[in-house]
Amino acid sequence: MSDESKPTNPGEPELRPHEYDGIQEYDQKLPNWWLFTFYIAILWMIIHWLAYYQFHLIPTDEEKIGRAIQKIENQRAEQLRNIDDTRLWTMSQDPAVISAGEATYKATCVACHGPDLMGKKSNPLLPGLALADNAWKHGHTPTDVLKIVRRGSPDVTKGMPPWEPQLGTQRVVEVVAYIMSHHKEGEAHTEEVN
Ligand code: HEC
Repeated sequence: MSDESKPTNPGEPELRPHEYDGIQEYDQKLPNWWLFTFYIAILWMIIHWLAYYQFHLIPTDEEKIGRAIQKIENQRAEQLRNIDDTRLWTMSQDPAVISAGEATYKATCVACHGPDLMGKKSNPLLPGLALADNAWKHGHTPTDVLKIVRRGSPDVTKGMPPWEPQLGTQRVVEVVAYIMSHHKEGEAHTEEVN
């Protein structure tokens, strides 16, 4: 590194006095096109900040996602508005609903609960509980069953995931009707703990 600054001709950019690894630099004025984009970027930042954060003229991504989630929640609530035990029992007698539910069951649930809906009771290798017997772990009413299929097991380590985000409300309701078609209203049941 040498501190001697080389004399420069008048009108030419000045050579800065420092030198690193044999490299020296000119004291150049930044080109106008570069300054222009730089000032535009600053201006844009101010407009953006005012529009998004001060005057809320444009919704932020967070607000957009919040609204989209709210819309989905409202749709789900609307789809579940008339769904109670009586309605689910009625649906469990409706062949069209049952076959739609069966299709979902075969595509999504069969891997863990088995083709006979008996889960680990008929095949100990399966993780899922039996759904066609009268022993229920998470409640025996159709709305209890709906709740666990929508939201998954309260114990996440058990491996029963929430299905509503993936299947949507309608298909969850149908698959519950399909399960309940293996049961009768008012039948005896036991609460199973395992
Ligand atoms: C990855 C495996 C797996 C899949 C796939 C799966 N389940 Fe489950 N399911 C389980 C396990 C494990 C449990 C037991 C949860 C517990 O012990 O809390 C369970 C529990 C349940 C119960 C509660 C049973 C009771 O006795 O209270 C219902 C109802 C149920 N599943 C329905 C379904 C439906 C409907 C589907 C398809 C949409 C499905 N499951 C897909 C593993 C699975």
